[in-house]
Amino acid sequence: MKMIAMDGSNISFFKEGLRLDGRRADEFRPLKIEVGVLARADGSCYVEMGGNKVIAAVYGPREVHPRHLQEATRAIVRYRYNMASFSVEERKRPGPDRRSYELSKVSREALEPVIFTSYYPRSVIDVFVEVLQADAGTRTAGINAASVALADAGIPMKSMISACAAGKVADTIVLDPMKEEDNFGQADMPIAMTPTGQITLLQMDGHLTKDEFQRAMELAIKGCRDIYEIQRKSLIEKYNQLGSELAVVQEAEVL
Ligand code: CDP
Repeated sequence: MKMIAMDGSNISFFKEGLRLDGRRADEFRPLKIEVGVLARADGSCYVEMGGNKVIAAVYGPREVHPRHLQEATRAIVRYRYNMASFSVEERKRPGPDRRSYELSKVSREALEPVIFTSYYPRSVIDVFVEVLQADAGTRTAGINAASVALADAGIPMKSMISACAAGKVADTIVLDPMKEEDNFGQADMPIAMTPTGQITLLQMDGHLTKDEFQRAMELAIKGCRDIYEIQRKSLIEKYNQLGSELAVVQEAEVL
């Protein structure tokens, strides 16, 4: 089906029922998660979600600076989403802008409900997300990376958070829109949730009917559940590896 894009060019979103990158409507892009990639962070994670490449670093709980931000009964959570100037086609002006403030705020709010902040009064948990390459869905890739990095840092959490978007292109609801679908599509709806289905982020750009919204939610929820399994496996893999390294050291010490 053909659509007229905003820049006037014709875009065919589907070819023989498949999307521009060969996916079916209900498939998300290849997802790669690597845990513990930064030596100086308390927890870290690298995520590739299709063409997105993001890195998350977690520091804390640690002392709050400036001090007037500290809370007597809980830790505060800070989240900084930053897009590298080389991460997009047209060079992005370095530094914060309206978009990165919004994304930092909604991403923090997506993660905060699962963190046991009351365990660490007067402290801060800092989460930094750096987007190295962007291809739509960077906020969801960042939240997925941040959630794993928080677990890697040993921050007590009620559960993991997984995030994924659904969108509408050429009147079809699709999972995990890539850049062309996001930029020239009819709607984009990122969500984040716990494995038990508590939604902690829900945003929408564009228009969906009630039925389309329900279908988009179904797809995005299924996407988050599958992403959760990959997050879990990546953490287990890292700690299994650490376990075997420890066993080798212990064996060497006995000998
Ligand atoms: O990345 P996400 O979908 O969470 O946020 P968005 O604001 O909907 O941005 C969609 C995509 O537009 C980004 O992932 C980038 O690929 C692209 N973009 C860009 O090329 N230049 C910018 N200054 C901002 C976004």
